[in-house]
Amino acid sequence: MADQAATNVTWHEHNVTSEERQKLNGHKGAVLWFTGLSGCGKSTVANAVDRMLHDRGIHTFVLDGDNVRMGLNKNLSFAPEDRTENIRRIGEVSKLFCDAGVIVLSAFISPFRDDRDQVREILTGGQFHEIHVNASLETCEARDPKGLYKKARAGEIKGFTGIDAAYEAPENCEIELDADNKGIEELAKEIVSYLDEKGFLNA
Ligand code: ADX
Repeated sequence: MADQAATNVTWHEHNVTSEERQKLNGHKGAVLWFTGLSGCGKSTVANAVDRMLHDRGIHTFVLDGDNVRMGLNKNLSFAPEDRTENIRRIGEVSKLFCDAGVIVLSAFISPFRDDRDQVREILTGGQFHEIHVNASLETCEARDPKGLYKKARAGEIKGFTGIDAAYEAPENCEIELDADNKGIEELAKEIVSYLDEKGFLNA
């Protein structure tokens, strides 16, 4: 976790409470953290859940690896320390959205267990839900939606997750999705059912 660099800063409590925000929204805030290899379907499933929840009048937002790396995190590479910083920043942004009452769908490879656990730690009170979009390397490589595995195998991309950079699968995640064998719609429904059962979709 990054050290506190600024001194003489004081935490300000919010006047509007999270309970008041929940009441206004009609549902709770949460962070759904999608982790998995490139091409496993994280963003696609996240966007399918986004659509299902939005159509039920729920406030949602998708944060996605490629997009965030073109803005907030454009100064970060895929070196391990930059991936850690990528996830730290996204974790903090996810927390802000969640505190604002939104159901956040964060879709990042987030290959390191420690980094994901740090995000879990800042999202106290059961707001963090880790979802392993579990597709095998073979499946992801066969799909290769952006042609990046081909480039990595050809040595044109160095340090590609699953090829020559590590992916540490979750050991105790809230939801494990079988993305090798199930379609997007079915996987998205599993997540919506989970949220329903846990009472996140009611105030
Ligand atoms: S993370 O490892 O830092 O969590 P993130 O989710 O932000 O990764 O970005 C992953 C996306 O960046 C991939 O889906 C892929 O499109 C692209 N990418 C480019 N280079 C790499 C690389 N070396 N390893 C993994 N993904 C890469």
